[in-house]
Order: sequence, then structure tokens, then C-alpha cells
Amino acid sequence: MEQVIGVIGGSGVYDLSGLEGAEWLTVETPWGEPSDQLLTGRLDGLRLVFLPRHGRGHVHSPATVNYRANIDALKRLGVTDVIAVSACGSFREDMAPGDFVFVDQFIDRTTGRASSFFGTGCVAHVSLAHPTCARLSAACATAAEAAGVRVHRGGTYLAMEGPQFSTLAESRLYREVWGCDVIGMTNMPEAKLAREAELCYAPVAMVTDYDCWHPGHAAVQVTDILRVLGANADAARRMLRGLPARLGQRPDPCPEGCDRALETALITAPDR
Ligand code: ADE
Repeated sequence: MEQVIGVIGGSGVYDLSGLEGAEWLTVETPWGEPSDQLLTGRLDGLRLVFLPRHGRGHVHSPATVNYRANIDALKRLGVTDVIAVSACGSFREDMAPGDFVFVDQFIDRTTGRASSFFGTGCVAHVSLAHPTCARLSAACATAAEAAGVRVHRGGTYLAMEGPQFSTLAESRLYREVWGCDVIGMTNMPEAKLAREAELCYAPVAMVTDYDCWHPGHAAVQVTDILRVLGANADAARRMLRGLPARLGQRPDPCPEGCDRALETALITAPDR
């Protein structure tokens, strides 16, 4: 199967220049409209599909992004591997603004977002023990390092509902009691849906701030995030440009099992 890379761009990453044969496509899905049109093209021969998670102009908040439509649209365009770029706050002194964290675990504190393709009529319970694709994540981390970014391989991402930032008590709970490394508002239910769609998923969490726990930094505000976002977005673009050389041939099947998550997940009787 041809490897097709889907890139979900987070805050600050609303398009991707330099694609050969670039074309914005409108994709319809049974789940409604994706966040925007999807940009398709090739990067050094590698097929790439880009979708700005918040839409061009940043018009969808984390709670109103149609995550199901986004993942479905990527799947319909033949995507096999999803790289999920997003801004995040840091709970660790050594994960500083400008660093990229290649998250490998999540705690999901989102509420009220449609978080499954399954429900009435067809029931499935996919495994989320290892919610990201180590192979894809390692290739992205190597490409980011080569692009001059300080990289952290592994980390736990607290997905919060927002859109308000955390209280100090919440920030301390996530950091000191739950041992989370970063916090953001968008990687869930995206990661769950990618697994149900049997897509490899690699989150790239770009640190913009220290949330509100750090005694040496004022509590995060959007203006602080915007100050760091431009440089982070440039670094993400450099990472992506270096990716084709680092990915190599996609092993078929995926050694992580991402591409056959449903083989062990369906519970509804097949003759129904
Ligand atoms: N995105 C960037 N910084 C964040 C923070 N501190 N909390 C939640 N989402 C974020």
C-alpha cells in the first residue's frame, strides 16, 4: 500500500507551501464537514494531504472541530499515516517553549465531543494501550532534530476540554499527581478516531508556554502563545520537509498494528 502522509496542522499551521501539484479539495463525509478543504500534493515524491485543524483563519475552537469528519476525510483521500501538529503547554521545566514533544500517552479529560465512529448498529472496542505509532513518531522526531529543534521522545499529554485554560489547582493536579508532561485541547478524541480508522497517528506537541504552575512565569495567555507560535510553525515546516528522507518505505503491515486495529475490536455479530 502506498504511504500517504496526512498532516493535521494546529494553531499557527494553516497551510503548507512547496508541495508539487498542490490542490485544495473539498471532501464530503457522512459525519459532516471537515474543518476546511484539504490540500493534496507531493513532497519529494511522497504523497501528502494537509488539513488545518482549526480551518484557515482559525475559525473552529477545540470543542467545535469536527474530529470525525477530519479523520474520515483524510482516510477517504487515501491517508495511511497521520502527523498531528499542535500547540501545548508544558508541565516540565526541561520541556521549554520551542521544544517539540513526541507524545506517546494521553489522559483524556475532554467532555461532550463525538469520540467514536461506532455506536448503535455496530459496536467496536479498539485497544488504546499504545495510542500512537512509534515508527512514525520516531521518523518525525529524527526529522525535527535534523531541523534544529530540541526534541523529547515520549511524554503524556493531558487533553482538556477548554476553551478556557486550566485553574492553578488543575494544573498542579495534572503535573504533580497525574505526572503529565504537556497539556493541550485537541489531540483527543483525534487519536481515538485515528485508531478506529486504522491510521498510524503521531502527535507533535509544540511547546508554547508553562501553563500556570510555574512560579517563574505568569499564567498563560493567548498573546504568549502567539509570540512563540510563528517560530514553532516554521520549525514544523522544516521538520516536514525533511520527513520524506527519513520515512523510507512504509512496512506493510505496520509493525505497531495500527492498520489492523479493528481485527480484534468488533463485537457485533457479523450476520446482523
Ligand atoms: N495550548 C497551548 N498552551 C496550552 C495550555 N497551557 N493549556 C491548554 N492548551 C494549550
